[in-house]
Amino acid sequence: MTTLLLSGTGTDVGKTVVTAAVASLTVGRSRTCTVIKPGQTGVPDGGPGDLADVVRLAGEQVRVVELARYPDPLSPAAAARRSGRPTLDLARVTAAVLQAQRDSDLVLVEGAGGLLVHYDDDGFTMADLARTLRLPVLLVVSSGLGTLNSTALTLEVMAGRGLELAGLVIGSWPERPTLADCSNVPDLERLSARPLLGALAAGIGAADRSGFAAAADAGLAPALGGSFDAAAFRRAATA
Ligand SMILES: Nc1ncnc2c1ncn2[C@@H]1O[C@H](COP(=O)(O)OP(=O)(O)OP(=O)(O)O)[C@@H](O)[C@H]1O
Ligand SMILES: [Mg+2]
Repeated sequence: MTTLLLSGTGTDVGKTVVTAAVASLTVGRSRTCTVIKPGQTGVPDGGPGDLADVVRLAGEQVRVVELARYPDPLSPAAAARRSGRPTLDLARVTAAVLQAQRDSDLVLVEGAGGLLVHYDDDGFTMADLARTLRLPVLLVVSSGLGTLNSTALTLEVMAGRGLELAGLVIGSWPERPTLADCSNVPDLERLSARPLLGALAAGIGAADRSGFAAAADAGLAPALGGSFDAAAFRRAATA
């Protein structure tokens, strides 16, 4: 049984697509996988949230659990305040993760936005969840200009709080990478002191299930169930 916290250097970096890719490879090997989205914001009640994307891309075998929904496109704490609905607390999220761990080979928890986004007005964050349950953080990053700073900031906070890094995954690697995209590959590896755990091709969020499974395999390292070769990727990026 393994559990990963999927966080990112910000919103829209591709956490959901990376979560779906890891889930796809897991269920593709007939292992059970639960994806938990503690707080879904920015989607009306009954509308398709991140978990709908996970199921669309990775298949119905993936179990999904959403604990709270707040329609406004804000942080969970701010959106909860506006909605008048109860905020999430650490105990509730912890209980949901422990329950999922009992009946799944792999549990993936997708945060909202970045690691220090607040879930309540006392400042509960996914960093607290990671520390309490000792969850390794799979950090989804972008490849373009600005990523070195936001990645370094996140890694420093993680180190300061004693959080374990599972690795970095580039959420969306463009078909025509710029000089910055290419140059950032070895720099991201230097910052994290390890090879990339993956880079998903841009556009795969729109693929059908079998195309998505193939792209997940190509874009995720063996530690995540795929066949991504970080050294070959780095060589191609820096050639
Ligand atoms: N590799 C990719 N291929 C295609 N589309 C992608 C890829 N990565 C991200 N996207 C698209 O970019 C947008 C943001 O990605 P995603 O929803 O995964 O981000 P996120 O980090 O989960 O954001 P949030 O903080 O809102 O949960 C989505 O529209 C998604 O479909
Ligand atoms: Mg998401």
